[in-house]
Amino acid sequence: MDLKLTGKRVLVTGGNSGLGAAMVRAFAAEHARVAINYVVHPEQTAQLAGQLRAGGGEVLELAADVTQANDVAAMFRKIDGAWGGLDVLVNNAGIDGTRAMAWEADTAAWNRVLQINLVGAFLCAREALKRMVPQRSGVIINTSSVHELIAWSGYSAYAASKAGVSMMSKTLAQEAGPYGVRVLCIAPGAIRTPINATVWQDAAGQQDLISKIAIGRVGEPEDVAGMAVVLASDVAAYVTGSSVLVDGGMTDYPAFSHGG
Ligand code: BGC
Repeated sequence: MDLKLTGKRVLVTGGNSGLGAAMVRAFAAEHARVAINYVVHPEQTAQLAGQLRAGGGEVLELAADVTQANDVAAMFRKIDGAWGGLDVLVNNAGIDGTRAMAWEADTAAWNRVLQINLVGAFLCAREALKRMVPQRSGVIINTSSVHELIAWSGYSAYAASKAGVSMMSKTLAQEAGPYGVRVLCIAPGAIRTPINATVWQDAAGQQDLISKIAIGRVGEPEDVAGMAVVLASDVAAYVTGSSVLVDGGMTDYPAFSHGG
């Protein structure tokens, strides 16, 4: 199926590793123009961009800290300069933070998770909407998580940020819908990326993780990236305001396949 993403102008935040890099590759494979935002590891960004350019891709490498409104505005101005606007924003940049029970949690660390995952997504969405609303088209895909629904002990900031991203998306979808702009979430489960490497690289950790997934395997970044390109395309023209779970059935509570 031709998703008709050829030439579309796409920005992926945190696009140089994990889910972000997989999404960058997937959009480039659909012949979209892709801006890779990053804050650390410029060499990793350059390597990815180089590979895509070698395959004929049009790629921008944009360093910007999504928590800083000025950085974000400058990044969007660079995209304007290169491409005259944006068609798809993927808010992917995120961290899970350090595991800590609330009574042990550090204020700065807790805030940092909210700043990157929620405020950062808002700042980028705001700049994107400033462009998409007047052009009366565009798609914003926010990366939430199964933890917009499932509580996660030791990760109160992360779970709160993802629930926040979900409701922020619904609200922005309501605001932008009349202007032909869709806003939605992709909600991954346990995907094999650097964010959870300490779990899936450990045999017992991996087994425990798999016991929480109906399909019985840890997800691959491509599982999420494939869904992202579909959601960005007109195939999903009637999808907005919702969270699309890509979780192998983690939210199907496989623990209930026995007992209960
Ligand atoms: C987290 C992963 C975790 C998964 C399932 C994701 O949102 O980033 O670290 O494995 O949720 O708990």
